[in-house]
Amino acid sequence: MGVKRFGVSIPGELLDKFDAAIERKGYKNRSEAIRDLIRASLIGGASSGGRRGVGVLSFVYDHSIPKLEKTLTAIQHESGGMVVTSMHVHLDERNCLEVVVLRGKPRAMRVFADRVRGVKGVKHGSFSPMLGVTDLP
Ligand code: NI
Repeated sequence: MGVKRFGVSIPGELLDKFDAAIERKGYKNRSEAIRDLIRASLIGGASSGGRRGVGVLSFVYDHSIPKLEKTLTAIQHESGGMVVTSMHVHLDERNCLEVVVLRGKPRAMRVFADRVRGVKGVKHGSFSPMLGVTDLP
């Protein structure tokens, strides 16, 4: 395939922090660090096979919607033990924030996250896979 070059626009302050961080980690240059970041982000996708990892799902929902809370709890109970823990915050009179820590196969965690985010009434759903964190230096 060969090597391709591309330009990236980034705030100066963010780039300074990035440069400092990659220097601490011993990277010789930005390209090398960015290649590793891209590889790590791809591992977070469906391509990572059977390796287990952890992930965090967070979402906000309106608890005044009938049966919504019950549905969300049922989905977590049906996760096959993927839910390690969850935290519930009553944000205001209507909105609840829930943070769910998952452990399992990447694809299964993503399916679970998509299922929760797909429930009508769930908003601001965000899923962060963090695979193989125990292997990190
Ligand atoms: Ni609540």
